[in-house]
Amino acid sequence: MEEFKGKVVLITGSSAGIGAGIAVYLAARGARLSLTGRDQGKLRGVAQRCVEAGVTEQDVLTTAGDLTDETFRNQLVTRTVNTFGQLDVLVNNAGLGNGGNLSDPGQMESFNDLMNLNVNAHVSISKLAIPHLLGSRGNIVNISSNLGLRPCPGLGAYCMSKAALDMFTKVLALELASKGVRVNSVNPGCVRSEIHRVMNFTDEQYEAFLARQAEMHPIGRVGEPKDVARAVAFLASDKSSFITGELLVVDGGSLYGGNEIKI
Ligand SMILES: NC(=O)c1ccc[n+]([C@@H]2O[C@H](COP(=O)([O-])OP(=O)(O)OC[C@H]3O[C@@H](n4cnc5c(N)ncnc54)[C@H](OP(=O)(O)O)[C@@H]3O)[C@@H](O)[C@H]2O)c1
Repeated sequence: MEEFKGKVVLITGSSAGIGAGIAVYLAARGARLSLTGRDQGKLRGVAQRCVEAGVTEQDVLTTAGDLTDETFRNQLVTRTVNTFGQLDVLVNNAGLGNGGNLSDPGQMESFNDLMNLNVNAHVSISKLAIPHLLGSRGNIVNISSNLGLRPCPGLGAYCMSKAALDMFTKVLALELASKGVRVNSVNPGCVRSEIHRVMNFTDEQYEAFLARQAEMHPIGRVGEPKDVARAVAFLASDKSSFITGELLVVDGGSLYGGNEIKI
């Protein structure tokens, strides 16, 4: 269980949902963690779960801020490396789930907000992290979606952002392969998290939504953060040392075997 002993992993969007799940999973495997999101209270809660999973308090750094802010991204990478002395893995996980219909007339604000976080912030923080990853011969894991690989009316901006992230994974992997840095992606189906809260569900409505989603996943259930965390751990570890530029779909068969996605 000490697979990540000594490794330093920076996980964006780790104050909730999938990112928090990845943090706790890697903590149980000995990783030192740099956690970030905008909500310091939630970050503290996830850090506590990491300590309960087996790391010391000194092994978990929390830094609150907005990832769409360039100054913050700089501070985050610098603070991580200054605290731990190295960076081995960057998990680009933070993401927004809405962005509107592509055919709606009018303003571009929500589209731009989504692209700023789901694409631009990841490209930018990767550029900041790469000099350190070259030193550690580390790797990047991007958290995309199976909606980067299939169109979904009503979620067009989101699909576009994930398709862009997937091409980023593939091209960056080729740019860095000969330098010893791997770049891969996990593309989940529907996973229980906070991301669907933008639809203003009550708890009951959310469970009904997840039940409808489960029917679109041939395995018969939606994903849990741990399902994604296991895939991230594999791609971030030496077990996948001959894998780069790969999009690992973790979606209970929904991409190829599911019905049309309805939101
Ligand atoms: N859940 C799914 O069904 C699903 C399926 C496929 C892919 N994904 C992808 O998985 C990733 C994680 O999503 P999730 O479902 O775990 O969502 P979530 O529960 O809503 O968590 C999103 C995380 O991103 C952070 N975040 C959002 N805006 C931010 C900003 N401007 N600056 C810094 N941090 C920000 C949030 O932290 P704060 O609120 O503290 O800022 C939170 O930690 C996303 O990339 C998403 O597209 C999710």
